[in-house]
Amino acid sequence: MRLHAEVRDEMEEGSEEGAVTASAGLSPPPLIGAAAPVPRLVVGFALTKKKVKSFLQPKLLLLARKNGISFVSIDESLPLSEQGPFDVILHKITRKEWQKVLEDYHEEHPEVTVLDPPNAIEHLNNRQSMLEEVADLNLSNFYGEVCIPRQLVITKDPSSIPTSVAMAGLTLPLVAKPLVVDGTSKGHELYLAYDEASLSMLDPPLVLQEFINHGGILFKVYIIGETIQVVRRFSLPDVNTYDLLNNVGIYRLPRVSCAAASADDADLDPLIAELPPRPLLEKLGRELRGRLGLRLFNIDMIRELGTKDRYYIIDINYFPGYGKMPGYERMFTDFLLSLAQSKYKRYLSGT
Ligand SMILES: Nc1ncnc2c1ncn2[C@@H]1O[C@H](COP(=O)(O)OP(=O)(O)O)[C@@H](O)[C@H]1O
Ligand SMILES: [Mg+2]
Repeated sequence: MRLHAEVRDEMEEGSEEGAVTASAGLSPPPLIGAAAPVPRLVVGFALTKKKVKSFLQPKLLLLARKNGISFVSIDESLPLSEQGPFDVILHKITRKEWQKVLEDYHEEHPEVTVLDPPNAIEHLNNRQSMLEEVADLNLSNFYGEVCIPRQLVITKDPSSIPTSVAMAGLTLPLVAKPLVVDGTSKGHELYLAYDEASLSMLDPPLVLQEFINHGGILFKVYIIGETIQVVRRFSLPDVNTYDLLNNVGIYRLPRVSCAAASADDADLDPLIAELPPRPLLEKLGRELRGRLGLRLFNIDMIRELGTKDRYYIIDINYFPGYGKMPGYERMFTDFLLSLAQSKYKRYLSGT
């Protein structure tokens, strides 16, 4: 918790009565009952303009403010130690210099919660390492099975791809994805390949992944700390034998899952629409949170067509577009309050 200094909420003009604009001395305990004092939590953020717009929406700022949380923009051109003090740093910038700045700062200020550790985020910037933890999970229980599509990493020489694919025994069609997700739109240029020969037209480094038919519906599983929320989104249509026999070449895929349209209200086959069972998601969330060392991420998950409980994870993203998720304001505020609460407990116990 913050010990001194005065910090303004830079995201909102004016200040309403009761808003947190200053604190001196150790902050009071977090909100427990109606009469309890409001905690003061300062969240410094280093996010792109686009992210600020989509995430720090007025409704979130207002709810946070009512709960004693203020958001303060971090100026990356200034030393971090000259800013703040912060209780929490929220960031999604993966530049090497910024990573170093954050790591040094965290060493000096271990009391500040960095959401999340830069090296853990980096793990998700490569589509091979991103899914490694899931592959190791071996998550199969009463509620279903979670795995990843069979895939092959190609780092060079596109002419050797057809042979490599044949040797690996991958089944067509394949989705080709850039190996590195670098925050640019290039990292999301995906292709569908119908035949082996055309694979040599692709541009490594990339991951070739078996395409899994899934009824055109994708589940986006959002994680915020210990809370999980799942929504349905439209995805790519299935590929049938006819398509496979009558198509050759590679096709650029549209960015379907980015589209704002949710599939939640669509008139869908109940077998396709049914959300993954809650206990499975809880277990998956818990396991991945621990293994990835992250608290803010989402998982793209599909259920294999014709199966009731065989799930594939195809993508994991750090600090996704929470702004599109209904009720994210409450979830995020509660998450920050829980951080404040555990920090306060640690402070009281002297650890
Ligand atoms: N192995 C796969 N099988 C079926 N559909 C896939 C597969 N991989 C990706 N897709 C489809 O392509 C979309 C984008 O793939 P994804 O790996 O999530 O990349 P991005 O980083 O662009 O979000 C997914 O939302 C899904 O609709
Ligand atoms: Mg995705």
